[in-house]
Amino acid sequence: MSAERSILVTGATGLLGRDVLARLLAADSRLQAYVLVRDVGRWLRTTHDLGNQGRVIPVRGDLCVDGLGLAPDARAAICRDVTAIVHLAADTRFSSPLDRARSVNTNGTQRVLEIADDCDAPVHVAYVSTAFVAGRRTGVIAEDSHTEHVGWVNAYEQSKYEAERLVIDQAASWVILRSSTVVCDDLAGHVTQLNGVHRALNLYRHGLVAMMPGVVGSTVDAVTTSFVANGIARLALCDDAAGKVVHLCAGEGALPLVELLDITYERWALNPAWRKRGIVRPVITDLVTYSLFERTIADVGDASLRRIAGALSHFVPQLALPKRFDTTNAKALLGHSAPPVRDFWIPMLDHMLAAQDAASSFAKVA
Ligand SMILES: NC(=O)c1ccc[n+]([C@@H]2O[C@H](COP(=O)([O-])OP(=O)(O)OC[C@H]3O[C@@H](n4cnc5c(N)ncnc54)[C@H](OP(=O)(O)O)[C@@H]3O)[C@@H](O)[C@H]2O)c1
Repeated sequence: MSAERSILVTGATGLLGRDVLARLLAADSRLQAYVLVRDVGRWLRTTHDLGNQGRVIPVRGDLCVDGLGLAPDARAAICRDVTAIVHLAADTRFSSPLDRARSVNTNGTQRVLEIADDCDAPVHVAYVSTAFVAGRRTGVIAEDSHTEHVGWVNAYEQSKYEAERLVIDQAASWVILRSSTVVCDDLAGHVTQLNGVHRALNLYRHGLVAMMPGVVGSTVDAVTTSFVANGIARLALCDDAAGKVVHLCAGEGALPLVELLDITYERWALNPAWRKRGIVRPVITDLVTYSLFERTIADVGDASLRRIAGALSHFVPQLALPKRFDTTNAKALLGHSAPPVRDFWIPMLDHMLAAQDAASSFAKVA
């Protein structure tokens, strides 16, 4: 079968990229995808289940190397065939220092745009970003408001913001698909990849979070992999979405922080052994007080407390910067909203607990 459209996908080994690629291939039987991967051997070993192998061409490359480190024949084939790039690859760690985050996320995106520019045909670039490029802004965050900024909570947010600017300024045609934080696969709550949210929840469950930044009106916006991957696969190559920024976020379905902490506590408290430990809910405090608390830990806390506070410092300040992501473009283009956080939060908690129980009984047996 000859391909009608060839695309380049980056980040296809990642949580979202793998799902997005599978959906793109399933939606169009004439689509061929070059996938930029750092390790072709690992790609071939781990993608048996993807199917459609004949239409997927892995090419070795790295966002941090000039020309993406592509071999000349791979680059020539991409430049000859590709008419769209779905760019998901990123350093997604909140704790990366700015130079590292920029080298992958900002400079890497610049290199992707240079390849796009070298292609024979005009290339449409779908850039997968984060809703948290909004950084320290508060209030309603409109999808198209990408010109002003007031700083960021971490280098990841900043480097993704800078990459968005490059895409808007340089791509012949573009769409920016901004995801909220993915916390589980789907409404059943299964967790494939742990992130800062899960780690913060674990600390809370063990009574290690005495304070949490927040204000009246703080909400937690979170999404499932299946909602975001479906949104990306449907909108990345969609003409109607071109030139738009789209929030793949819970939006109005975000959960108030206080309610989220309460339902989480009540769920864990169903277990008498946990209830007996007398763990109390964290005190919600403003950012100034939270910073003093962090400083005290840095000065007098033991090594593990310092590690915990350090890990949280890269993203929990967002909780005291209340914002609601507007999802007008997303709803109009997709025809539906994201599932409200309330619909998958408890199943997600239950999956986390079941996975931890399974891991600890395995450790006892091993
Ligand atoms: N997951 C979320 O909650 C979330 C939320 C908002 C936005 N996003 C955005 O969605 C996109 C995908 O996120 P994800 O959660 O799927 O990420 P992920 O699971 O952390 O995967 C990151 C992907 O980027 C690739 N990558 C990293 N550094 C690279 C480099 N130097 N050269 C080439 N490839 C490189 C990784 O390849 P290797 O396999 O070789 O490491 C992997 O395929 C990212 O752009 C992220 O910013 C994600």
